Amino acid sequence: MGMFSKKLGVDLGTVNVMIYSGGQIVLQEPAMVALTIEDERVVAVGQEARDMYGRHPEHIEVLRPLRDGVIADYEVTEAMLRYFFRKIAGGMRFRGPEVMLSVPYGVTSVEKRAVHEAAVRAGAREAHLLPEPLLAALGAGLPISTPAGNMIFNLGGGASEAAVLAMNGIVVADSVRMGGMRLDEGIINYIRRKYSLVVGEPTAESIKIQIGAAVDIGEELSMEIQGRDQVGGLPRTITVTTSEVIEAIEEPLSSIVSAAKAVLEKTPPELASDIIDRGIVLTGGGALLRGIDDYITRAVGVPAYRAEDPLVTTAVGAGRALEDLAILRRMVQGL
Ligand SMILES: Nc1ncnc2c1ncn2[C@@H]1O[C@H](COP(=O)(O)OP(=O)(O)OP(=O)(O)O)[C@@H](O)[C@H]1O
Ligand SMILES: [Mg+2]
Repeated sequence: MGMFSKKLGVDLGTVNVMIYSGGQIVLQEPAMVALTIEDERVVAVGQEARDMYGRHPEHIEVLRPLRDGVIADYEVTEAMLRYFFRKIAGGMRFRGPEVMLSVPYGVTSVEKRAVHEAAVRAGAREAHLLPEPLLAALGAGLPISTPAGNMIFNLGGGASEAAVLAMNGIVVADSVRMGGMRLDEGIINYIRRKYSLVVGEPTAESIKIQIGAAVDIGEELSMEIQGRDQVGGLPRTITVTTSEVIEAIEEPLSSIVSAAKAVLEKTPPELASDIIDRGIVLTGGGALLRGIDDYITRAVGVPAYRAEDPLVTTAVGAGRALEDLAILRRMVQGL
């Protein structure tokens, strides 16, 4: 069963950590840690830390160790990974896992080294890194080893990346350090401006997920939410609708989608026709937004399709890359 030398495909994200091993997703947790402020002792990690967000006592802080796709707090990232690796081991003693981690396209070598070191210090026996769009393409099952061009657009929480891949390598790519969290911010700002109501990040995110859309979906959903009055300071309830969310996220969404436009503009003509035929595959949590496929299709003029299970595509790709080291080696050479 490979119990003593686990291979883990890790999508180390700004919002979520997903881990794939032995043919399935074995861990899916928010990338959050709760710490005591005074001595930085870890109190909770993952879902437990997220549950504390916004409702914890004052001697505790809840934070995301990654920001915009890259490590913002090195030690906390290490502590989080160690906790997740142990959780997967389930109390069993085993040699440190061999891991493949995703890093955003276009990160600096310093940022890459930070990920590598955090993984090793968290207990990994060996750590490999590959760019997220490549792993996402692999996880989505795109035939990236062929000479034909395939395009992936990963819509993450803190960063978004578009890439055209062929012959196991990235031909052109572009990224913005902007993702679903910017959409949440757009909702927070919209509600503050329109209703003088202050809502928190978790509320904004649940509005986006429950009733949000990128374009008119022919269905107007609505939802009651509570916030704090900006003037009086007291709690108040309002109802928000799908069309309000569309308006609230319009600006950040169009900035995010500019990454896909930039890639298409740089794509060599030989591959551009492949992309027009095959379309763009959307991955990452942002691909779950209602109507995002139509929105991108209209914005860039090339058909866009949602991957099957977009939240876990990168982790699946990381796991597959690790399982098939021959593929891995070919890809690494091609980079
Ligand atoms: N149903 C949904 N509709 C819209 N957005 C969603 C939905 N489900 C999740 N999201 C958003 O997807 C984002 C998380 O996606 P994902 O897990 O791919 O990001 P990440 O890998 O943590 O971030 P990054 O790759 O940028 O470091 C969050 O912003 C979340 O709000
Ligand atoms: Mg991601």
